[in-house]
Amino acid sequence: MEYIKFTDVYVSINGNNILRNITFSTVHPTFLSIMGPNGAGKTTLLKTMLGLLKPDRGKVEILGYNPVYNPISIRRLVGYVPQKDYITRDLPVKVKDVVLMGILINKSLPRYPSPKDIENALEALRTVEMEWAWDKRFSQLSGGEQQRVLIARGIANKPKILLLDEPFNKIDMSTQAHIIEFLHRIKSRNVSIFIVTHDINPISAISDLIMILNKEIIAIGKPREVLRKEVLMKVYGSDVRIFDGHPCPIVVTGDTHV
Ligand SMILES: Nc1ncnc2c1ncn2[C@@H]1O[C@H](COP(=O)(O)OP(=O)(O)O)[C@@H](O)[C@H]1O
Ligand SMILES: [Mg+2]
Repeated sequence: MEYIKFTDVYVSINGNNILRNITFSTVHPTFLSIMGPNGAGKTTLLKTMLGLLKPDRGKVEILGYNPVYNPISIRRLVGYVPQKDYITRDLPVKVKDVVLMGILINKSLPRYPSPKDIENALEALRTVEMEWAWDKRFSQLSGGEQQRVLIARGIANKPKILLLDEPFNKIDMSTQAHIIEFLHRIKSRNVSIFIVTHDINPISAISDLIMILNKEIIAIGKPREVLRKEVLMKVYGSDVRIFDGHPCPIVVTGDTHV
């Protein structure tokens, strides 16, 4: 069976330990939501999956590949939608360049898009209903539209695993609804999704698993097992509130984020 597996993984940045004793395994495909306070190491976890950060110890296995030893296979398998602040707003590039970047990065030099690459980039934009913006400047789009273009970049290579880092940050409700609808569609295409979020409520029902992370794994399990006061208190303190909801409990943490 195909799986994504961390075994006793420790990660440091500049000599400071960020993640410790990370051990979990998920079958593929799965939809895993990761929540935790600022500085909990959520982005670090995604970067470790991508091979951008190397563990001090422990082992990461992604559909049979190790990100440290098989970076090229990992880049082919895994799509990445980084936190949006990563690309500056006034980047003087067109939308097509942003999306093609996601395809050309896997090619050897010289990197020119083939007709097939352009078709794939257009298809990715179509998936997030942004095809109309092909020739527009990235900087001229709204925050929500930029987020959708970044998602298109992440899926342009048709990855088997998609990592999204706080895609709901600083976007309006209608873009959020749009992205959630997109997540439902891509989930049904046998793609594994790991999504970092501050607000679990919009995606708890679609999640197969929820991980609570704070340097180490505080909890991982089905939404109803994890979204409980005694679990969330360990990370958010006693002001966390849980309301009855269907199909999943509603969580209010007071952790509203930047
Ligand atoms: N490039 C970096 N240099 C030094 N420290 C970093 C760097 N990136 C992240 N950190 C530190 O690592 C910790 C975890 O960061 P991160 O994984 O970004 O957390 P999260 O995404 O959960 O907010 C934080 O304490 C942060 O200050
Ligand atoms: Mg982060």
